[in-house]
Amino acid sequence: MNESLMATYNRLPVTFARGEGVWLWDTAGKRYLDALSGIAVCGLGHAHPAVREALCDQAGILVHTSNLYRVGAQETLGETLTALSGMDSAFFCNSGAEANEAAIKIARLHAHRQGIEQPAVLVMESGFHGRTLATLSATGNRKVQAGFEPLVQGFVRVAYNDLGVVETAAANRPNIAAILVEPIQGEGGIIVPADDYLNRLRELCDRYGWLLMLDEIQTGMGRTGHLFSYQGSGIQPDVVTLAKGLGNGFPIGACLARGAAAGVLGPGTHGSTFGGSPLASRVAHTVIETLRCDRLAERAAQMGDYLLAGFRRALDGTAGVVEVRGRGLMIGIELDRPCGDLVGQALEMGMLINVTAERVVRLLPPLILEQTEADLLLTELTGLILGFLETPRDSTKLEG
Ligand SMILES: Cc1ncc(COP(=O)(O)O)c(C=O)c1O
Repeated sequence: MNESLMATYNRLPVTFARGEGVWLWDTAGKRYLDALSGIAVCGLGHAHPAVREALCDQAGILVHTSNLYRVGAQETLGETLTALSGMDSAFFCNSGAEANEAAIKIARLHAHRQGIEQPAVLVMESGFHGRTLATLSATGNRKVQAGFEPLVQGFVRVAYNDLGVVETAAANRPNIAAILVEPIQGEGGIIVPADDYLNRLRELCDRYGWLLMLDEIQTGMGRTGHLFSYQGSGIQPDVVTLAKGLGNGFPIGACLARGAAAGVLGPGTHGSTFGGSPLASRVAHTVIETLRCDRLAERAAQMGDYLLAGFRRALDGTAGVVEVRGRGLMIGIELDRPCGDLVGQALEMGMLINVTAERVVRLLPPLILEQTEADLLLTELTGLILGFLETPRDSTKLEG
């Protein structure tokens, strides 16, 4: 690997030269079906003409000014996003971690103004919120935190998808000001909570005066069958964070807030040099328009049901398969053993997949996936998993 780069990633030995739709080509010309979209980023697929047109056109007009001035495209994007999400105001930044930093700052400032001196945010085991110091402290994965102590204080962690532990935390911790939670845990292994989990969390937040802050960085932008995943539950959060699919690969993050939370951040309390530039805002607006015009959230729901049903038909009941689960085009196939090797095997076959939480094959294909491509994914991946499960286990890897 290249020694001029910090070794922060375990990179696969492939370099992509170009992409189109759900396909990528490497530098040797080999074609790959992309069932990962750059980890839930390229929902519209690669080299989408509308995104290219917005990027190229805007690059020739105005890329960056500063948030010292009004930014027309940012105002338009804010109006569109708040209208579609039922939220009141937006702050724009450049990544998911930054969007969550904004959310955590809102929770703390809001709490301080209510007289809570040492506010805490309730977060979940196996949750993932980013790699900055505050967001890795909020993350429920020791591997992400190890070596970066002292962690940022002010987080109380409870089990995901368990309302009893939230009640217990409420009884014992009067300083809780907010919950930060993913509607479906992505990095944690595509953990889909009970259907009414978000509704019950909403009720608890109302009862205790907490902000309900949803990290929709992976679940948002149509991926789970709604533009925002919470829209499937019929609830309205107080804070929503977005990134990944919002720019289809152009870096942009957003923190949306509603009601009392919407007015918490004022001049001097937060900011970002690049956040919501004319270029980023124009691209994100184009992405949203395309998602809506092409009804891609509905398509994600349909194609997701199709894939889930197909994988269940092929794999349910197979020894070694724990569960096939997901919502929309956010799909996990949990095996009973570490299965990281599948990623390289799939690559050999011309297919991009991911394994998270050691045992969960994760699929996050572009929302434009066609049925023929879904069929190809079903056949190829099912064959790969069945072959993998038939191979005698390597005892050195079982301890993983
Ligand atoms: C749910 C969730 N939150 C936050 C993040 C962090 O986003 P970023 O890598 O853009 O900082 C991720 C990234 O995987 C994520 O899945």
